[in-house]
Amino acid sequence: MRLDRFLSHQTRLGKKTVRQKIDAGVVSVNGQVELFHRCEVDHFTTVAMDGELLQKNKAIYLMLHKPAGYLSATSDPQHPTVIELIDEPYAADLHIAGRLDLASTGLLLLTNNGRWSRSLTEPDKKVPKVYQVQLRDPVRDDCAEIFSKGIYFAFEDLTTSPVELTILSDTSVEITLYEGRYHQIKRMFHAIGNKVIALHRAQIGDLTLGQLPAGSYTRINRDLKII
Ligand code: URA
Repeated sequence: MRLDRFLSHQTRLGKKTVRQKIDAGVVSVNGQVELFHRCEVDHFTTVAMDGELLQKNKAIYLMLHKPAGYLSATSDPQHPTVIELIDEPYAADLHIAGRLDLASTGLLLLTNNGRWSRSLTEPDKKVPKVYQVQLRDPVRDDCAEIFSKGIYFAFEDLTTSPVELTILSDTSVEITLYEGRYHQIKRMFHAIGNKVIALHRAQIGDLTLGQLPAGSYTRINRDLKII
């Protein structure tokens, strides 16, 4: 909803008065003075006028250290889900921003803010995701070059965007992705005749797991900072 409409609705003031308030610099959005009448406001936005809080942001952002064997889903008849690891009254409202496979481990983000999770996974936003990958066979010398050109996925009829690859040992690499296609890393290695035997997501943007034990979670903010 537009800021001017939101204010009229909340305060029952007329459109003209609301616009005058915005122009006078007494309206703030997420703690900053907002002068744009049509600024987009949803229920994850904090809005104040004349120093009075009209709406408090109700968004929740969590970072979870996903253990192997937990499904990145909200419910499942067969496997335990990552939501079952969240011991909070709001757990059922959360969804996953960028899944990890059942056997994969590492940094998983959960939120109730769909716009935020979409923005993180959009390839255009270029949020880096760093993975440590264990391989069955020794990594090919030309792997970085092949992956930098992209791998064609026939099912989706697309070529993956360039990834960064660092060889850590004969059979382990670190990969940075800027998108998140279904089983992307496994399928990329499969395409060059290798197999992923373990996958761990270590970082999203500047956020890392630090000392967070497997199965534990912590609150973060929308800028991927621990709070
Ligand atoms: N790529 C995969 O193949 N699996 C994951 O869990 C994440 C990225």
